[in-house]
Amino acid sequence: MAIKETQTQLNVLDLFCGCGGLSLGFEKAGYHVLLGIDVWKDALQTYKFNHKDCLTLCADMSTLTGEEVQKYIGMNKVDVIIGGPPCQGFSIAGKRIVDDERNKLYKGFVRMVEYFKPKSFVMENVPNILSMGDGIIKASIIEDFQSLGYNVQTKVLTASDYGVPQNRRRAVFVGMLNGTFDFEIPSVEHKVTTSEALSDLPEGSLEEGAAYPIEARSEYQKLERRNSSGVYNHEITMHNEQTKRIISMVPDGGNYKDLPKELQETRKVHIAWTRLNSQRPSITIDTGHRHHFHYKWNRVPTVRESARIQSFPDDFIFLCSKTSQYKQVGNAV
Ligand SMILES: C[S@@+](CC[C@H](N)C(=O)[O-])C[C@H]1O[C@@H](n2cnc3c(N)ncnc32)[C@H](O)[C@@H]1O
Repeated sequence: MAIKETQTQLNVLDLFCGCGGLSLGFEKAGYHVLLGIDVWKDALQTYKFNHKDCLTLCADMSTLTGEEVQKYIGMNKVDVIIGGPPCQGFSIAGKRIVDDERNKLYKGFVRMVEYFKPKSFVMENVPNILSMGDGIIKASIIEDFQSLGYNVQTKVLTASDYGVPQNRRRAVFVGMLNGTFDFEIPSVEHKVTTSEALSDLPEGSLEEGAAYPIEARSEYQKLERRNSSGVYNHEITMHNEQTKRIISMVPDGGNYKDLPKELQETRKVHIAWTRLNSQRPSITIDTGHRHHFHYKWNRVPTVRESARIQSFPDDFIFLCSKTSQYKQVGNAV
């Protein structure tokens, strides 16, 4: 396959790329994403559809080698490696993360950094990775990359500080080869609320590509719609009457505690019967467990609404089954 000339841009390799949320962010920041790797075919279909200039590789990161990736990308070099290895817990011996089953995905990331020696890398993960094992995991990760020549900084970032209508927290490890840096990112003053994100999308389903039913109502909606000619992935979930009746009793921003006592335990998880708060950024969205409802409608958010909350633009279209789409959106960075 012919590969685009990218001399002026830094080439990025996205490991565990999913549908490509992280890749999209890097593209918007001016990088060229060369290749996304994942083992999940559905996510790669969406990835390919939305990242037409990128290569994709369906492969298991626990065994994939740098040589195999190099063969796939030909003469191209890798300047930056990004990605979030799914955390299956970590096993350590003494103060080291050892080569075993539970660490194999993390080790796959380290192996690629070791092989390509990129100028920098960004590895994201769940915030509690920094406190696991009283900080031994964090120290051991930093040491692994330091021994490869990287200066590493870590930070927990909250998405709503950067214009995303969601209080999603992620830990990032940023490494620079032989470099020093001061890791500061400017944050936004105005936090985007869920109503600013969603109030132009209707209660009912829309046909794929349907025209927007109303004008954008916020700066955020204008931004999200900027390159899109219509609405995709806005098919509502049909709840049963009992579910609709119960959620209708929960006010904007409320939860199961707002229900009569006898209904509070109808779902056995503490996040059950939660409504988004229209005046705040959303709580962290999940991969489609149907516990978080729209702030106004008696249904869970559609895939498009979830994508808005994740700050995917409206021209980013999700493929495969609806269940799979929710998972792709909820997994994204
Ligand atoms: C948190 S998601 C990635 C989200 C992505 N960074 C984004 O922003 O859209 C983690 C991904 O790791 C992938 N994954 C899990 N095990 C894998 C393996 N053994 N090899 C490659 N990918 C794997 C999953 O399929 C999933 O898409």
